[in-house]
Parts: sequence; structure tokens; C-alpha cells
Amino acid sequence: MRKIAVFASGSGSNFESIAEAVQGNKLQAEIGLLVCDNPKAYVIQRAKQKQIPVFVFSPKDYESKEAFETIILRKLAEYRVDFIVLAGYMRLIGSTLLSAYTKRIVNIHPSLLPSFPGKDAIGQAFHAGVKVTGVTVHFVDAGMDTGPIIAQKAVDVLNGDTRETLQSRIQEVEHLLYPAVLQELLQKEFTEGFLECLSER
Ligand code: GAR
Repeated sequence: MRKIAVFASGSGSNFESIAEAVQGNKLQAEIGLLVCDNPKAYVIQRAKQKQIPVFVFSPKDYESKEAFETIILRKLAEYRVDFIVLAGYMRLIGSTLLSAYTKRIVNIHPSLLPSFPGKDAIGQAFHAGVKVTGVTVHFVDAGMDTGPIIAQKAVDVLNGDTRETLQSRIQEVEHLLYPAVLQELLQKEFTEGFLECLSER
């Protein structure tokens, strides 16, 4: 059984949908650890309710990204994590984690990348007046939402939508898409060859 760590910074609705997919056996994996960079994040309560181990830290307590990622790496080894799932982790991944988990880190982003990377992608799309936006799952590299795309799903912007109604429809799509994509990724014998072929698409 693959062991994943979910990284999150905020509410954790995606964490919850992944945990529910695991409980319902729709995602055959174990969540070994939640890594959270925000001690006030609600996702911590969600993990505790599900008795999932949590590693929470404050980046400001460390002198560099390398310093806190080295500690994270130790935790990942302790819990024998082999795959990292970013779910609203609002921080770029540094070379310490990228080199240890090459092609084993994925992210979900609430837009059709490469449109609207970075923060508040839903607000960016809404204010740009696009008629279609969506959700992207992609491998993580050193850039901001720039890694190879694994899956995308479009969401129409409807007449009369507010930023909030659009957000709630995008999040509904996220909550279905992410567990399904993770299941597909983790169930294939993910050899270097398989990941190589995906990331070259
Ligand atoms: C999600 O919509 C996710 O796609 C987004 O943060 C939200 C977290 O919500 N991630 C990014 O914008 C990454 N660039 P959640 O805490 O309720 O899962």
C-alpha cells in the first residue's frame, strides 16, 4: 500500500475528500502524515478527528526553506512516506524536497493551467471575465504551478456567478478529480518509466 503525505496550509477540504476516498476504499493508499505550515489552519482539526498524524511548523521559526524542508524530510522518512500530495499548500517546494521526491510530488490548482497560476486563481479568472476555467492536477517542479500536467477538468463560469458560487463549483470538481487522479497514479506500478512517460506528455 502506497503511503502518502498531504501538505496543506488552510481549510483542508481537499485533504478531507482524499481522506474520505481512502476510508471508502476509492483510493487505495494510506495517509501517513499531514504536513502543515500554518498552526492556525483548520486542516489540523480535520486530521486529528481522523487520527492522522500531523507535523505542523511555522516557517518563520527557521532560517531558510532548506532548514524546514530538512526537518520535513526526516518526518517523511520516519513515517515511510513515498508520495507527496499538495492540497492547498501555499508555498513553493524547494530543492531539498524536490530532489528527494523527484516526480513523486503532485499539486492541485483551481484553474486551467497555464492560465492563472499563483494565489487566488479563482478570483483572477473571475475578474478576467473568462467563460471557462477549471482545475488542474500536475507534477510539481521548482516553479509556481508550472510542472507537467496530469489531468484537467473545465468548469463553466455561469451568468450570475459570483466569485463565491464559482469557487464552490470549482471545489466540488476538485474533490472528485483529485482522489480519482491519485488512485490512477498510485495504482499503476509507478516505475520511473511510467512517471517519465507521464511527465513528458
Ligand atoms: C484549493 O482550491 C486548491 O486548489 C488551492 O487552494 C485551495 C485549498 O482549499 N491551491 C492553490 O491555489 C495552489 N496554487 P482547501 O484547503 O479547502 O483544500
